[in-house]
Amino acid sequence: MILVPIFDLEEWRCAKMMKPQRPDKVFVGFRIATMSKSDIQLLGGSALARPIDEPYGAIEKVVIGVKDQSIIWMAKEEELPSFENPPEVVQGNGRWLTPGLIDCHTHLVYGGNRANEWEARLNGKTYEEIARSGGGILSSVKSTRAASENDLLTSAGKRLKSLMAEGVTTVEIKSGYGLDTETELKMLRVAGRLEELALIDVEATLLGAHALPSEFKDRPNEYIDLVCNKMIPAASEFCTAVDVFCESIAFDVRQSKRVFESALDAGLKIKVHAEQLSHMGIAAEAAKMGAISADHLEYLTSSDCKVLAEHGTVATLLPGAFYCLNETQKPPIAALKECNVPIAIATDSNPGSSPFLSLLVIGNMACNLFSLTPEDVLAGMTRNAALALGLKDRGEIRLGAKADFAVWDVDAPGEIFYEIGGNPCVEVYKNGIKRTLA
Ligand code: NIG
Ligand code: FE
Repeated sequence: MILVPIFDLEEWRCAKMMKPQRPDKVFVGFRIATMSKSDIQLLGGSALARPIDEPYGAIEKVVIGVKDQSIIWMAKEEELPSFENPPEVVQGNGRWLTPGLIDCHTHLVYGGNRANEWEARLNGKTYEEIARSGGGILSSVKSTRAASENDLLTSAGKRLKSLMAEGVTTVEIKSGYGLDTETELKMLRVAGRLEELALIDVEATLLGAHALPSEFKDRPNEYIDLVCNKMIPAASEFCTAVDVFCESIAFDVRQSKRVFESALDAGLKIKVHAEQLSHMGIAAEAAKMGAISADHLEYLTSSDCKVLAEHGTVATLLPGAFYCLNETQKPPIAALKECNVPIAIATDSNPGSSPFLSLLVIGNMACNLFSLTPEDVLAGMTRNAALALGLKDRGEIRLGAKADFAVWDVDAPGEIFYEIGGNPCVEVYKNGIKRTLA
């Protein structure tokens, strides 16, 4: 039996001399949607699966060996190595296994809710009108400032549980309802504590530049000074990225770029709420500065798409906000695809524009509202969502990737998003460990 790592021929030659490592666990009898764009090389040398030629990167009759939280090898079923001390066997019985889902854009931590604004919108007010009259984000700011850290933990924990039940193994959580250093840090600490309490990875993002707090009314540049000089340095140990809401009701391109510069100086990744309600031109500017993702993008232009493609910036689409705000302008899906911009899909779970707690429903909406295929959507919640967070170790089933798996009781992967309000996720493995929800 030969161990064959992907891509590195030198390593492959050395590996031929080695015995395969004993895994802690093997996953047997699954149909696997690898979602990988690469060839998957298997134990046994000559065996080479070519999932790139198959929809969903699907492979069958392949065993996955897992050790120390990662996939250490994959082998044909008939070439499964034998070990003196046999590893634990997880039997798939023909069920589908995909990478664990990644919700790469959420605002899960907040105090209160804004059901009253939803009603106001149904009675004729617009999102912008509500925002300009002190509601919207600022109303969540009031309740989040007033909430204790433990209360925020409890309410966000409940929301997180809904996402986890659907196979989410990595979630991004933004701050942005504090708008002062103390409360922004409180939100980021809650995001960190959620990771400690649940078997899930949390990527925390500072969104200090989400809206202008009322105490800085008419002084946006001074608030940006605070974000750049105080908030980012103080938050850098609690987050991995910095986000900005660039819009006429939030911050302009110049202010956004100042925040990005400070974030990059602090060694943080950058991402942006871009071109959601109007074309500000920030998506292309952020891409040029190295943004890992630009999110929303209803007003993105074809030439912006080219810039995103050039700089490897992921387009994260958020059908939940599009739906709740009754938008009619759709993101330029055809141009994004033509330029090969990786597309991610996320819930944008938040109390105002997208109170969604189901990534699967969002997947269905991405198909019906944005004409994406179920395969686009699954890639958008696995491989491309990982890219949108700048994470290279997950989102695909391949050698070296994290053993984050969702198991589905479906006949075909497209069915994952088919039944609205159902949940075909039957098992979840995070870092190779079976996750049970209390
Ligand atoms: O992603 N666009 C800005 N921020 C959030 C909305 C937040 C809110 O309304 O509370 C979003 O849609
Ligand atoms: Fe958002």
